[in-house]
Amino acid sequence: MTLNTPPNQPDRPASNRPDNVVWHEGAVSRELRRAKLGATGCTLWMTGLSGSGKSTIASALEAALIERGVFAYRLDGDNVRHGLNANLGFGADDRAENIRRVGEVAKLFADAGVVAVTSFISPYRADRARVRKLHAAAGLPFLEVFVDTPIEVCESRDPKGLYKKARAGEIKGFTGIDDPYEAPESPEVTLPTADESVAQSVERCLAAIEGVRAS
Ligand code: ADX
Repeated sequence: MTLNTPPNQPDRPASNRPDNVVWHEGAVSRELRRAKLGATGCTLWMTGLSGSGKSTIASALEAALIERGVFAYRLDGDNVRHGLNANLGFGADDRAENIRRVGEVAKLFADAGVVAVTSFISPYRADRARVRKLHAAAGLPFLEVFVDTPIEVCESRDPKGLYKKARAGEIKGFTGIDDPYEAPESPEVTLPTADESVAQSVERCLAAIEGVRAS
């Protein structure tokens, strides 16, 4: 029986993989982890423009999950860029690497039985699709949540003053201004934040999480 998740390196040619590195099976299966710890993991992946409300909803969602006794942990774009991804910028390659790393981390959290709640712009469809595939290959639930806030609303909120800087040409390659945002085509959940409260968005995310954790 396969006890753990084998490595998945779909984008890495075999010739480019490290030599003498062998996958080591652990002694704890996902089923055993679930039975002993009562923890069922998944990843809820929020995507949307800067200022769309991802971090606010993710924080409220994490708090609501913890309140219910669910192991949950939030991975936030700005925060992760202070540490794990401090060496990455905002060019397409760096954004792809940002999402690849966070996708791998979220998968590990989910495998450990945690509900991983991520909030990254993750503007490119291909990058998000890769993370989805990674989870599918590992048999872990993945919920893509589109924080669907029109750019006019994000720009009017401008909590960090970054749209203003981007319009003034002080920031180059800002998502939605002079860098693309590719909206999800079939997300599991869409949150029209201009028309619903944070509490309503959280409720809908909770329902989606309960759906996959129960199945
Ligand atoms: S992502 O595109 O790689 O997914 P991520 O979510 O990690 O982005 O970081 C986005 C945050 O970085 C924004 O909320 C904003 O505060 C800041 N930021 C700085 N420069 C840019 C830029 N050029 N485009 C978008 N966000 C930027």
